[in-house]
Amino acid sequence: MSELLPAWDDAAAVDRARALFTATFDGEPDGVWAAPGRVNLIGEHTDYNGGLCLPIALPHRTVVALRARTDGLVRLVSAQEDGLRELRLADVGPAGTPDAVEGWPAYVVGVAWALEREGLLDGGGFDVAVDSCVPYGAGLSSSAALECAVAVALDDVAAAGLAADDAGRARLAAACVRAENEVAGAPTGGMDQAAALRCAPGQALLLDCRDGATEQVPFDLAAVGLELLVIDTRAEHQLADGQYAARRTSCEDAARRLGVGTLREVTDLDAALAALDDAEQRRRVRHVVTEIARVEEFVATLRSGELRGDLLRAAAALVDASHTSLRDDYEVSAPELDVAVEAARAAGAHGARMTGGGFGGSAIALVDAGTAPAVAEAVRAAFAERGFTEPAFLLAVPSAPASRLA
Ligand code: GLA
Repeated sequence: MSELLPAWDDAAAVDRARALFTATFDGEPDGVWAAPGRVNLIGEHTDYNGGLCLPIALPHRTVVALRARTDGLVRLVSAQEDGLRELRLADVGPAGTPDAVEGWPAYVVGVAWALEREGLLDGGGFDVAVDSCVPYGAGLSSSAALECAVAVALDDVAAAGLAADDAGRARLAAACVRAENEVAGAPTGGMDQAAALRCAPGQALLLDCRDGATEQVPFDLAAVGLELLVIDTRAEHQLADGQYAARRTSCEDAARRLGVGTLREVTDLDAALAALDDAEQRRRVRHVVTEIARVEEFVATLRSGELRGDLLRAAAALVDASHTSLRDDYEVSAPELDVAVEAARAAGAHGARMTGGGFGGSAIALVDAGTAPAVAEAVRAAFAERGFTEPAFLLAVPSAPASRLA
């Protein structure tokens, strides 16, 4: 049977980060904070188009033990990487400049850099130890989890109080997006940071990217005998490369040609498609516009009653349709994702789709409670048959947002 990757409980998370901190730096951290990875239920590649998406926070988190400094120095250590890194906040420059920060520290110092530029905090520097049980590079937002754990830590040690309410959390999320776009150089849209900071246990987060408004949508699969299986295909997934940026540029260009601010404002899809002359761009627009409509329908389905019978079939059909649209119209799937989705459905999943940016990464499958190990085994066998790298699995239960643990 294929194993499901466990999440750390609070005590284990605190112990790990604190032990790494004290083994690396003298003395104790000021505290320990954590932020979750996410899966998006539906609404993919809609965030940077002003659209709707519906993520949940994972129980799998990134944890940081952090202590403030007053000299502008940042010292970083990670359980996932060798060596101690050290840099001055004043020397941090945007991606693409000679002062750009290489590798994972960009996600950490980028947050301090952005908070300073937004006038939310002043950059005094800090020592930080990082550990994580969010699979890295799996399309489960390990980078946003790191940014958001650092954001709540810096907010807390500065006693700024932004994490105390949703409006403050939205501002922290905006700073984390800035860190990712400008310092790490990945042109992502903002769903992941909103998920890590603004989700709630037992709920899916309906995020309207037009204005950042959110609604909590109850999502209790256990109550209706269901589970959400996450399949990490282990296929290479890299957002900073050109494909994600190319999709975003194509959408922005289409919006310009159509005379709208974002594709969210397209109200008549047929008229929009008729007005565009490039076939590839028409497919991109069709994905975005239909995907936003699928989020609306999915949320309406969740709200109209328990996810059983016809309602379950309707929700699952939307999940399946999302995958088809991402594969054929938006062209961001990968052979491993398609095989994962097909094998999961053949093994009894009600619906399955890729989740996150695509080009590798993870898929989700809506399965009957207790069947996740068998569905995982079927996917593992399908991967073995094709000579793909062995996939990994975990269960997605809607969990808590970024917070202080100790
Ligand atoms: C990545 C990005 C998000 C979003 C998704 C696709 O996860 O970080 O902003 O665009 O891809 O929905």
